Amino acid sequence: MSQAQLALPGVVTETQAEWVWSEDSAEEMDVPDFVHETVMRAEVVAALAPAAGLYVDATVGGGGHTEAILEASPDAKVIAFDRDDQALDAARARLARFGDRVRLVKTPFGRVGDALSELGVENVAGLCADLGVSSPQLDDAARGMSFRREGPIDMRMDPSDGETALELIARLTDEDLANVIFEYGDERRSRRIARSVKRALSDNQLHTTLDLRRAIVRAVGPVRVGGVDPATRTFQALRIAVNAELDELSSLLGSLPEVLAPGGVAAILSFHSLEDRLVKRAFQQREQWEPLTKKPLVATEEESTGNPRARSAKLRAARRLEP
Ligand SMILES: C[S@@+](CC[C@H](N)C(=O)[O-])C[C@H]1O[C@@H](n2cnc3c(N)ncnc32)[C@H](O)[C@@H]1O
Repeated sequence: MSQAQLALPGVVTETQAEWVWSEDSAEEMDVPDFVHETVMRAEVVAALAPAAGLYVDATVGGGGHTEAILEASPDAKVIAFDRDDQALDAARARLARFGDRVRLVKTPFGRVGDALSELGVENVAGLCADLGVSSPQLDDAARGMSFRREGPIDMRMDPSDGETALELIARLTDEDLANVIFEYGDERRSRRIARSVKRALSDNQLHTTLDLRRAIVRAVGPVRVGGVDPATRTFQALRIAVNAELDELSSLLGSLPEVLAPGGVAAILSFHSLEDRLVKRAFQQREQWEPLTKKPLVATEEESTGNPRARSAKLRAARRLEP
């Protein structure tokens, strides 16, 4: 089936929406709020220039970019992926007004090619990805991604799948753990930190995110370097490893030439240099891509002031050439 023929089932009927957006109704229903401020919304839409056709949002999160695509063209449809049920529930509630123009799929985006084939979709007119974690994932102590909140050392974007950060720490040798912290966190003091974390584990002192931060501080001291907490880099590294974030991104980038119709556009927002390097390299394949951004676009000063997360965002976009 081609993208133009695809009929999308309604979003609300798939499962019951549990999360809501309005604070009033959240209070009434005693459900958590899901608030994630969409980064570079206008720039992503400008790159995709939505028209009649089918688009993919590889990281629906709270639904901000999908909503922007659907608003930009009344004839656009979106298949939106996420691996986090809470994000999908939030997006389902937010996007319900678009009816069958949007379909939500729980799948890691590294599988986007297979997932589209399973849905009978040959290719799409555009794809966006807003990498990393959402604010609610960071803010919910139970997800274990923040060193500021006490929670289990989990860090999985999909809590129903795979190894937790604590299980990863237990499985890796000191040396392998140090390598993860060095490579994914760009942390010079990785060996000291790895030893201290493993010691805390063997002393039965590693149960929560605050225990993990304490073990890091024991290794490197409490001083904030450049305003950054000493645990920042190690937490980032463990999260990237637990969720295989770079492997996922590589698979997504590898499948783009098949997923996109000729002339289709990919717009990818990354938040650290490891991600951006992979995106830059993929779009440098000039026989496949016409870059739409010479240098990565960054958020306006106004957006960065209002949303600190936007400060590290880099947007690269490219058009798929005829094979
Ligand atoms: C920054 S948020 C997206 C926010 C969204 N653009 C918005 O404006 O509301 C990133 C989302 O991507 C999801 N995600 C990250 N890696 C993923 C992967 N490999 N597969 C599917 N979803 C992923 C996360 O669960 C999270 O919900």
